[in-house]
Amino acid sequence: MKTIFSGIQPSGVITLGNYLGALRQFVQLQDEYNCYFCIVNQHAITVPQDPQKLKENTRSLAALYLAVGLDPAKITLFVQSEVPAHTKLGWIMQCTTYVGEMERMTQYKDKSQGRNESIPLGLLAYPPLMAADILLYDTHFVPVGEDQKQHLELTRDLAQRFNNRYGETFVIPEVRIAESGARVMSLQEPTKKMSKSDPNTASFVSLLDSEKDIVKKIKRSQTDSDNQVRYDKENKPGISNLMSIYSALTGKTIEQIEIEFDGQGYGQFKGAVADAVVATLAPIQEKYEKYLASDELDKILDEGARKASEVANKMMDKVERAMGMQRG
Ligand code: TYM
Repeated sequence: MKTIFSGIQPSGVITLGNYLGALRQFVQLQDEYNCYFCIVNQHAITVPQDPQKLKENTRSLAALYLAVGLDPAKITLFVQSEVPAHTKLGWIMQCTTYVGEMERMTQYKDKSQGRNESIPLGLLAYPPLMAADILLYDTHFVPVGEDQKQHLELTRDLAQRFNNRYGETFVIPEVRIAESGARVMSLQEPTKKMSKSDPNTASFVSLLDSEKDIVKKIKRSQTDSDNQVRYDKENKPGISNLMSIYSALTGKTIEQIEIEFDGQGYGQFKGAVADAVVATLAPIQEKYEKYLASDELDKILDEGARKASEVANKMMDKVERAMGMQRG
């Protein structure tokens, strides 16, 4: 059975973008693959986090992983900092990475903008930790949204570089991008991706938003004034984004949506999008509350960390042997 690894940062409330770009795929993959899903809290601290919030977000994300339909009997779900091999291999991967490569990362350029002197070093150095996450588990496929493509290319380069230097050690992983919903855009600035760390909460739908908030956010989302439901990413990014979301949620193609809403205007279409989002999120929210209140959640995470550590420690052993870091 081939192996899947993916992770999500507990850095805010999970958005519709995270769901469509990542989580939804995870559910489809759990039957066919040996799956590791990680709550990457060490990635979240590359920018300062409030300790209490980080703790809450970690449990909340664990409950969401389960609420969307991941079955702990089939997958390994764990918290990154509970498996120390991640930072151990992360350091080794940093030593395999060039500074120039890091400075070229688009996510780094975006996130460091305007921070001047106070850019945390972790923000620059985090892609090698992401590579370590993946390489520890002999991962074949990594399901992620489009924004992570560049990090996956780096991971492949680092694995190859390490293998060339120290002998065949790592499987070279492949990225798996969703067919629809791989890049959900902000509802307020539709040329930017939807992000859970956006200070403007009207720009994203969170998986835990109330029905009222979802309807409000979709109805007030930025669209042009021509009032025709037609896909044109360049000139009509707002309406095109809503069409992509609707398509991802309903399985209808863009052409079918254009025909369905021909001559109906944005008001009606936005109403249909909001209904589709609510219909998807309502059952997830119901299960979420149940998981969050149960102590089953902690048992699942304990067991996940134990299983992940077993595999990750074996890989660390192999890596350290290859590098001459073991005396025996
Ligand atoms: P993060 O936490 O930013 O996002 C989690 C997942 O959601 C996807 N995603 C989106 N997909 C579609 N539209 C959007 N607007 C959108 N926003 C986010 C992301 O592509 C991702 O799949 N560095 C990673 C976390 C990570 C990881 C890993 C992922 C750490 N180690 C190892 C895979 C494998 C991140 O910051 O994702």
